[in-house]
Amino acid sequence: MEQYILSLDQGTSSSRAIVFDRKGQICSMAQREFPQYFPKPGWVEHNPHEIWSSQASVIAEAISAIDINGLNIAGIGITNQRETTIVWDRETEEPVYNAIVWQDRRTSEYCDRLKADGQTEYIRERTGLIIDAYFSATKIKWILDNVPGARKRAEQGKLMFGTVDSWLTWRLTRGEVHVTDVSNASRTMLFNIHTLQWDEDLLKLFDIPASMMPEVKSSSEVYGATKTTIFAHKVPIAGIAGDQQAALFGQMCVEPGSVKNTYGTGCFLLMNSGEKPIASKNNLLTTVAWKIGDKVNYALEGSIFVGGSVVQWLRDGLGIIRSSSEVEALAASVPDTNGVYFVPALTGLAAPHWDQYARGTISGISRGTTAAHIARAALEGIAYQTLDIVGAMQRDAGITLLELKVDGGAARNNLLMQFQSDLLGTKVIRPRVTETTALGAAYLAGLAVGYWGSIAEIEEQWQAEHIFEPTEERTQIDKAITGWEDAVRRVLHTEN
Ligand code: G3P
Repeated sequence: MEQYILSLDQGTSSSRAIVFDRKGQICSMAQREFPQYFPKPGWVEHNPHEIWSSQASVIAEAISAIDINGLNIAGIGITNQRETTIVWDRETEEPVYNAIVWQDRRTSEYCDRLKADGQTEYIRERTGLIIDAYFSATKIKWILDNVPGARKRAEQGKLMFGTVDSWLTWRLTRGEVHVTDVSNASRTMLFNIHTLQWDEDLLKLFDIPASMMPEVKSSSEVYGATKTTIFAHKVPIAGIAGDQQAALFGQMCVEPGSVKNTYGTGCFLLMNSGEKPIASKNNLLTTVAWKIGDKVNYALEGSIFVGGSVVQWLRDGLGIIRSSSEVEALAASVPDTNGVYFVPALTGLAAPHWDQYARGTISGISRGTTAAHIARAALEGIAYQTLDIVGAMQRDAGITLLELKVDGGAARNNLLMQFQSDLLGTKVIRPRVTETTALGAAYLAGLAVGYWGSIAEIEEQWQAEHIFEPTEERTQIDKAITGWEDAVRRVLHTEN
């Protein structure tokens, strides 16, 4: 009987299920968007039941589309939007509050107080992270402090915490397995990335009972088997990784120094730093990439909050395009931005500035400026932010970037990719399978169940679809970069 790997990619705006074959090719794919809730400015929530039901429905759709069932699935890999925080009741399985999404800024002021209390270095040393509302710790604390009765029930051991991977595993196993993997754990701000354990001092600092926390496992092993009726047979859940780390693996950035950038809602640039964590001096994050067997790989990460979502804003906010796919043609209708810069700090600036109060600007507007110049400046803003991260990463790691592997929705935009290559002065490589996040989770699961024999075997499958080479005159590019740096200086609200 033909065997496949099923990958679940639970992202910020949609849930996907993809069936891969032994060659790492997509055999079937289903995707469903689910509602986003914005109860107050800066707050972003998901309903955990809607996360689960959207995921469950795409699983059913993807497997029935090619007429397979649980017996055909050798293993399931889970990859997910990271940091998003869910707290639920151990007995009833009922979440005590909506999922607080990674983008949610409600705990920003509490983070400011932690910084003022001098906790920055202490937290960075242990977790590799910069104090920010982005990570799970302050979101869990907010739930315990604000949902009536939650703290008491947590102290009685009645509540459980999980990132989305934990929640899905819990639902798929019908409450038998409460786990997460090292890559997701490293985004909570509660995980010691050196000992690979929950950090008791940090749990105390944030007032979070240890009994809530999932067991931390490697990224590639059998955690348990499905018990849901979707499959009718028990299928091993065998791989878990946060979506950006999964994409790093799916791009086969397995050698130290290899780098990928995912152009999704945000942009996340990760460099494999090998078996040793690199402490950043340039405001990047040190994070766990994955653990396979006994081997742990670390990564340096530059997180950009607004990437492809700036195109949504051009569509929904500014109304200069009707669909996202129109942006490339509009931007390409002019040869340059005519001096316009768009710094897309719509929800603050993340790496390397970490200014949660910065807001977006469009500068350099003149009488000759058109919608096309603004569209082009918006795309270029994504590439400039990536350039800033690469600069910080090169300084941290003492390396020179030779090539950048790219994926995510906006990586299909040729204009953006060409500009990225011109800016960086390096090759930009787009793979044949751009669903690298799901592919990475599939590989992790497939390795655990012996579907693929080794990483070396998988590496042979990886193929480029398009390689962009720098074409622009360097002096022109350097001049443009100086203009971008000026534009960024104007939006910064605080100095780091
Ligand atoms: O850290 C947040 C990241 O994991 C979200 O990714 O692709 O769901 O926007 P995405």
